[in-house]
Amino acid sequence: MARLKCQMHGGNIYAASRELGRDLTKLIDFSASINPLGPSPRVWRAIINARHLLTHYPDPDCWELRQALARLCQRSPAHIVVGNGSTELIDALPRALRIQHLLVVQPTFSEYAAAMTRIGGRISAVSAVRAEQYVQPIDGLCRLIEQKRNGSDAFHGVMLCNPNSPSGQACSVDEVWRLAQAVQRRGLWLMIDEAFVDYCPERSFIPQAASWPRVVILRSLTKFYALPGLRIGYAVAQPSVIELLRRQVPPWSVNVMGQVAALAALEDSTHARKSMQFMTKERERFGKLLAALPGCSVMPTHANYFLMELPRGRHAREVTEQLRTDGLLIRDCSSVPGCNARSIRLAVRSPQENDRLIQVLSILLHHEAS
Ligand SMILES: Cc1ncc(COP(=O)(O)O)c(C=O)c1O
Repeated sequence: MARLKCQMHGGNIYAASRELGRDLTKLIDFSASINPLGPSPRVWRAIINARHLLTHYPDPDCWELRQALARLCQRSPAHIVVGNGSTELIDALPRALRIQHLLVVQPTFSEYAAAMTRIGGRISAVSAVRAEQYVQPIDGLCRLIEQKRNGSDAFHGVMLCNPNSPSGQACSVDEVWRLAQAVQRRGLWLMIDEAFVDYCPERSFIPQAASWPRVVILRSLTKFYALPGLRIGYAVAQPSVIELLRRQVPPWSVNVMGQVAALAALEDSTHARKSMQFMTKERERFGKLLAALPGCSVMPTHANYFLMELPRGRHAREVTEQLRTDGLLIRDCSSVPGCNARSIRLAVRSPQENDRLIQVLSILLHHEAS
């Protein structure tokens, strides 16, 4: 078990544009994993049609959006709260549920540790190991939860990122069920971050969650629905838990255009199907090209990104910098607790953009090898 520290995110194209003196449109961002097909065309139309709403406050209850999400999740709107991205809800959860000591699997998304740091809480981690391609150690987690612990050693909650970032590994519903049982026996909270589960919907715990009063599920419209700039995320839980979360979130945190765009995006099942078909095909093609690069290992993934290891002797930080000067932004994972110094995360983008990355990376790695 280890302590975690905070790290940086991908997706800061603004800083890269300033530092490189290059227009944003000339950068290709593999560091944030966003649906490369972009948002549904209905989103653009909905935003234009809603322009008269800009001079009003947004609906603080996100009423219409919660109705749509409730239909999607087959729950009532009282089971749902919308946030300014799921990050706002990740931040609110420890305060809402009085979690002072959180257990996670590492490597994982850094915002869980950041949220605990902000409230002066503690975070502990069980490691997913490289030799097992970072499969989430559910049995190890359950054993740890079931051990008797006292005082500040006692856990108050477990955060499971499913699929996990940056590893791409995902637990089955049966595994999450086992974890939920262990958590329930101990009277802890289980929070499941399903920001990327749209890419493996059969692994979502939402259909099961009604039977688990201490389970909170987080979803995001950032990745699959390609709305990172509008900041829409939501939580699904028992109404009493939703009420606790709502109290920790400032009023009007979810803007008008975010609500309008999310509604339009959720209604477009054709775009969703197209996005899924595209990802299944392009992920396989890109994964094979990455695996063929000399000395590189690529982890299996259930999401729209790959965790990859560079050849021995290469450092992720240095390769990230080299690619950056070519306008290719990738996620250096060398500082992610639980990853090694050769780890990078790459989003699956359009075939043309993926080919460009392969071409530049291939030259870089061959050059170094010779
Ligand atoms: C695993 C995971 N969860 C949650 C988030 C936050 O997403 P958002 O706040 O945009 O909904 C991210 C963003 O990178 C993520 O990778």
